Amino acid sequence: MSFLELAKKRFSVRKYEARPVEEEKLFKILEAGRVAPTAVNLQPQRLIVVREKTNLEKMKKASVRIYDAPLAIIVCADHDTAWKRPLDGKKTTDIDASIITDHMMLQATELGLGTVWICYFKTDVIKSEFNIPDQVEPVNILAIGYPAGELLSPDRHDQARKPLEDTVFYERFE
Ligand SMILES: Cc1cc2nc3c(=O)[nH]c(=O)nc-3n(C[C@H](O)[C@H](O)[C@H](O)COP(=O)(O)O)c2cc1C
Repeated sequence: MSFLELAKKRFSVRKYEARPVEEEKLFKILEAGRVAPTAVNLQPQRLIVVREKTNLEKMKKASVRIYDAPLAIIVCADHDTAWKRPLDGKKTTDIDASIITDHMMLQATELGLGTVWICYFKTDVIKSEFNIPDQVEPVNILAIGYPAGELLSPDRHDQARKPLEDTVFYERFE
């Protein structure tokens, strides 16, 4: 499968089978995140792998819908480790965490798993429930498991995405 075929195959899965994700598949997903680039290679990511039912249940307290996925990875970024652009002070915490999330999401797709990327959650509740220190920010939650419902067509992007000419400019913003 080419990269573009893989990227088109992926969609947000919001219905999962109960069967767990195999250990070796989880390892590959985490390894894909590990090799992702981060600003200045500072690797500020801190990942919490959540599989135990009682811990998955805690997500509800933080208003997170993980759609009964058997696995969720809370992708955090350490503000004390991330790069800060000296020119304007912008930190790359969100960017670094999101590149790692994307690498893991596509690796999971290649392994025949479904995922949904989640940003809708109460950060303070996630922090307290999962013992996350002050300087570490939960940025994304990636729910992972075997899709239970209908698989969406890779051709859906003709309708589901804007055409390139709406979002890409050459040489200057127009
Ligand atoms: C940064 C980001 C945040 C998202 N947050 C949520 C979320 O909180 N809950 C959810 O169900 N989906 C969430 N999604 C999934 C998007 O809604 C979804 O990717 C988008 O509608 C395109 O659909 P597709 O993934 O099926 O191609 C998020 C995706 C991204 C990239």
